[in-house]
Amino acid sequence: MDKSFNYIISPEISEFRKFSPNLKIGILASGEGTNFQELINLSENNKLDIDIKVLITNKEDAGCIKRAKDANIPCKIIKEKDFVQKELFESEMIKILMSFDVELVVMAGWMKIVSSFFVSKFKDKIINIHPSLLPSYKGSSAIKDALSNGSKITGCSVHFVDKEVDSGSLIIQAALQVLKNDNIETLSKRIQILEHKIFPLAISHAGYFIREKSMDSY
Ligand code: GAR
Repeated sequence: MDKSFNYIISPEISEFRKFSPNLKIGILASGEGTNFQELINLSENNKLDIDIKVLITNKEDAGCIKRAKDANIPCKIIKEKDFVQKELFESEMIKILMSFDVELVVMAGWMKIVSSFFVSKFKDKIINIHPSLLPSYKGSSAIKDALSNGSKITGCSVHFVDKEVDSGSLIIQAALQVLKNDNIETLSKRIQILEHKIFPLAISHAGYFIREKSMDSY
């Protein structure tokens, strides 16, 4: 356990599943990409058996782009406003993900809602990370909402994506205490540390589920 603060992770998994060949994943991200970077590092150090085949981002100035370039990961920037309909935008994303033959679609700070059309193309093969203990604080201001509601405990969740926003079966959660003097910055920082712990575990176990169609590990 990290000595600087107390937290709880459930389920209590700490080992990665082994994949041979590596699990092929596609990343969707809109932001800085620290979670994406964690996956790059674990993959490069051969700790997590994944091949990150492609990054798709909808923001041309997103920090995740440089991280993809530095790691030689193909990066596709596509913006919904360049398409006449959301379905065409999502069709382009689907085309890209399928062209890389990805087994698991990983939303790593993807700040757009996907439609049931997109979800149906990758049924039970999309996971998302969210900075709250779902089902509390869905939406784009989860950490701010936890603070303004006076929550005493919050955290982060990784879940399979279904057609409702920030819903779908939970894979793993991490909980921490909200401190009296916390602000968005301090709380985000601690949540981010936990995100970097649980996200790779969730990918590994979701990948196992997809390959083996079994949740025996739970
Ligand atoms: C993460 O905190 C993630 O939980 C959140 O975006 C951040 C991305 O950080 N996702 C959502 O809010 C999705 N609803 P990163 O770009 O540094 O990985």
